[in-house]
Amino acid sequence: MRVLNDYWTQKAKREGYPARSVYKLQEMEERFHILRGVKKILDVGASPGSWSLYVLRTVHPTPHVVAVDLSPLSLPAHENLTFIQGDITDAGIVKKLLSEAPFDLILSDAAPSTIGIRTVDTARSQALVEAVLGLASPLLRTGGSCIVKVFQGSDTRQILEELGRIFQKSRSFKPKACRSESFELYCIGLEKREGFN
Ligand SMILES: C[S@@+](CC[C@H](N)C(=O)[O-])C[C@H]1O[C@@H](n2cnc3c(N)ncnc32)[C@H](O)[C@@H]1O
Repeated sequence: MRVLNDYWTQKAKREGYPARSVYKLQEMEERFHILRGVKKILDVGASPGSWSLYVLRTVHPTPHVVAVDLSPLSLPAHENLTFIQGDITDAGIVKKLLSEAPFDLILSDAAPSTIGIRTVDTARSQALVEAVLGLASPLLRTGGSCIVKVFQGSDTRQILEELGRIFQKSRSFKPKACRSESFELYCIGLEKREGFN
């Protein structure tokens, strides 16, 4: 399977993306059309920047992307890109994001640093997912959507239930471009309910 993983990495390099994760977003876009018509996007856990770059390159007219991460992006400056460096669980960072709201779409590929102990890693992932879902209410406009990365073994059912409360439609999806040995999938909420603030 390493050959397949190298395939995605080489493809990303050839196409000028800093990470192979771009093909997961591409696949979700082809399946769910989450980027259609969006004007303002929040990209959580955006570094090194493939998802933000994919949006800036492929969506027309170009939306405004607000990217947030603990680490800097590996992207050149772009007039439609605002980068906020910091932790999305930090009140100061949330305040900055509030000043940028409302968003049409929240993308989160954020992943905690892992230590290789499954229970600890999934608990950290679950906490990060909850932090992202907590942002959907104040930051996302009615009708907006959200994609959030989840480590398998997290309580996916509970996450989907929470998404179902906020959004009209919710589902999970595992893109082909996820490493075969990887334990991640994405939970997707489409069309934020009216009055959910
Ligand atoms: C898999 S990478 C994202 C790759 C990115 N989507 C791309 O295509 O280039 C996960 C990112 O989540 C970020 N992250 C993890 N916890 C975070 C937090 N609490 N706040 C902000 N970013 C976080 C990490 O710093 C890391 O850069």
